[in-house]
Amino acid sequence: KNVAVIFGGRSGEHEVSLQSAKYIMDMIDKEIYNVIPIGITKDGQWFTGPNVREGLLQGEVFGHPLSIRLFGKDRGFMVKKDDGWQELAIDVVFPCIHGSYGEDGCLQGLLEILNIPYVGSGVLGSAVGMDKGMMKTIFTQKGLPVGPYITFNKYQWEREKDLLFEQIESFGYPLFIKPANLGSSVGITKAKNSEDLLRGVELALQYDLKIVVEKGLIARELECSVLGNNELFVSTVGEIIPGNEFYDYNAKYIDDNSQIIIPAKISSEVEKEIQRLAKAAFRALDCCGLARVDFFYDHQGNIWLNEINTLPGFTRISMYPKLIEASGIKGKELVMELIRLALE
Ligand code: ADP
Ligand code: DAL
Ligand code: MG
Repeated sequence: KNVAVIFGGRSGEHEVSLQSAKYIMDMIDKEIYNVIPIGITKDGQWFTGPNVREGLLQGEVFGHPLSIRLFGKDRGFMVKKDDGWQELAIDVVFPCIHGSYGEDGCLQGLLEILNIPYVGSGVLGSAVGMDKGMMKTIFTQKGLPVGPYITFNKYQWEREKDLLFEQIESFGYPLFIKPANLGSSVGITKAKNSEDLLRGVELALQYDLKIVVEKGLIARELECSVLGNNELFVSTVGEIIPGNEFYDYNAKYIDDNSQIIIPAKISSEVEKEIQRLAKAAFRALDCCGLARVDFFYDHQGNIWLNEINTLPGFTRISMYPKLIEASGIKGKELVMELIRLALE
């Protein structure tokens, strides 16, 4: 059987995806699955071959071009070899792309059209989980605890800046300004005053036409992993202690100054409540397979749902596999279970 692992891509999390793909490919049981690496360049070109990941790490292309055939019996991926285009048989895909075009339902939609099973959430869960505004709207609707936030787009910002400014400032500083559709903290800033706010919105608008601004919570950051389709396994809870002022891109992947504490030092009631909310968030968005659900736990004892990640990181420092492992399921078992869930 062939499992294709798709990585790289056009999102701001291209580099993170290459790290996650290494973990996933290492963990697949090669006696059961033949691994087909599929790499997407930063400008969106698809290639396959044994060294495609190494190529992307160097910003180069090592591999054969891929295409899609939508007619005939052998509909699906086609690969260009020396003697022309050939069918590329794929039984299941492990999408290993974070952010736009990979975690937001686009890739999932393509795979639905090609009728190829894939790991993780479908089009709807992926799309809603990716958009921090829509995600919070649904969570709020389902009665889940979400902190004060506002969303607006570039057009509204240009037309109604004064009104928006007033609404946003009524939350009080600090504020967090985020592009609606990104991850790994790319484009996110913390604003301590109105100048920061203006600058932050301009920066976020470079990444997305839609922005989310949130009241900054003074709180601990707790995370919980969910695994399953119908019957859900929830992990123990972990805590992130960011090395920088907040858990920004550098604190996540570059500075090596953040700490991960598993299990988090919290009471068993708080742990149970977080596990309950993690499951509820997963179900609220009709997720499948896997997700990491992230929370804030403030000093008054309130638990706030921050976000769900439908294709969480699988890097060296990533919480998703670490939390599952701490709960008794090793990396190899986890990745094989995710593939099994995709075929269920
Ligand atoms: P991403 O999807 O990029 O991970 P997050 O919404 O998780 O975006 O924000 C990234 C980080 O920014 C969080 O891990 C946290 O450190 C900080 N942060 C985000 N929103 C808030 C908030 N409302 N209050 C306090 N810290 C926040
Ligand atoms: N978006 C990154 C990869 C994460 O949530 O882990
Ligand atoms: Mg996050």
